[in-house]
Amino acid sequence: MTAPRHTIPFDLIDPAVHPDPDACDAWRTLRDAHPVAWCEADGDRPGFWVITRYQDLATVYRDTARLSSEQGNMLGTLLTGGDPAGGRMLVVTDPPRHSAVRKVLQGAFSARAMAQIADSVRAATKDLVAAVVDAGGGDFVADVAAQIPLMAICELLDVPPADRTLMLDLTMAAMGDDGTPEAAEAAADAQEDILLYYAGLLPGRREFPGADVVSLLANGEAGGTPLSDAEVLLNCYNIIIGGDETTRLSSAGAVLALIEHPEQWRRLRQDEGLLDSAVEEVLRWTTPVTHLGRTATTDLTLRGCDIKEGDIVTLWNTSANRDEDVFPDPYRFDLARTPNRHLTLGHGPHFCLGGPLARVELRVMLEELRHQVGELELSGPVERLRSSFLTGVSRLPVRCTAAG
Ligand code: HEM
Repeated sequence: MTAPRHTIPFDLIDPAVHPDPDACDAWRTLRDAHPVAWCEADGDRPGFWVITRYQDLATVYRDTARLSSEQGNMLGTLLTGGDPAGGRMLVVTDPPRHSAVRKVLQGAFSARAMAQIADSVRAATKDLVAAVVDAGGGDFVADVAAQIPLMAICELLDVPPADRTLMLDLTMAAMGDDGTPEAAEAAADAQEDILLYYAGLLPGRREFPGADVVSLLANGEAGGTPLSDAEVLLNCYNIIIGGDETTRLSSAGAVLALIEHPEQWRRLRQDEGLLDSAVEEVLRWTTPVTHLGRTATTDLTLRGCDIKEGDIVTLWNTSANRDEDVFPDPYRFDLARTPNRHLTLGHGPHFCLGGPLARVELRVMLEELRHQVGELELSGPVERLRSSFLTGVSRLPVRCTAAG
């Protein structure tokens, strides 16, 4: 069957579109009427598929044989010629190489490793939340949410404490592409600086290996051969880019959601047993990664639509995590929601490797909020990130009191 062609009611590439609450209606319309829609080419920009229903996303995520990640997994990259790290950085590598490299990295996220990092995460979160409570409030993003993920990643990579501020600045610059040419240039420079920084660590980690991610990669083998330097560096970068801003957006989004739903905040304070389901609902509610992209390696059919070899296919987590067929009353923030099999951390072979760490960070933050904070409210305007790939708050001024 020839694919029905539908006009997407909003510009998915425009970073300003994603924070708009009216987008919810547009997603609902797409899910109902055009779950596999085609966004027409526009000038030099190629067309692409827009998939919005949960079950279809899950199907595509699992099908790494026919839907490749190697050309890139973000719409912006796919539309501009592909990802130069394809085949060398885990998230944009297909099996079988993907499975072999993933095995090398897996050890860094074992339950034992997570328990160790949880201690550092708890100590840091405790102090940062205490400082905000002592001050009567602050910007929750800058004062708490931005500090923890990179600290945890630096522990994973064993970045010396003296270099951690540099890493935070570079990471923010690397992810700060808001669509302007200046930001794109600054982001590219920062990305290069991050790779150079890790290149500087390699000789030491080869001579005196530790249990950290850089040592695992630098001394690891995939398919019987050592990883190339480029693979090692790009995978260090993958951990930083994958784990920093995403977790920050979920943490800050959690606090905003609790402020906007005071009855849920009261529930959480009264019932420690809610913590596990609360972490999952925070992940579903915030969905920091709006979409992922794939490229068809062969002709295939999805819901009667003909996807051609070479077509770009985009998977909208933002929509799938509000799919009424899977989540009863999906626009309700409900900390007790179970089951809650959201797609926030992806699905299938590329399922987020850092998921256990993201969960530790969110759980510890919710615990510390419960222990230390009483009243919680906004004290100024919230600012939102401008990006078509990541969504969430970039500034969250709060006022709070100590727990009674
Ligand atoms: C993969 C989201 C935290 C490292 C992914 C994918 C998603 C995702 C959606 C799948 C990508 C794809 O299928 O193309 C998130 C979110 C997080 C988070 C929303 C926080 C709330 C982390 C953390 C780390 C991390 C803390 C590491 C410290 C990775 C890596 C991959 C990945 C290495 C590639 C896995 C693979 O391709 O096999 N993440 N992530 N992520 N994530 Fe995360």
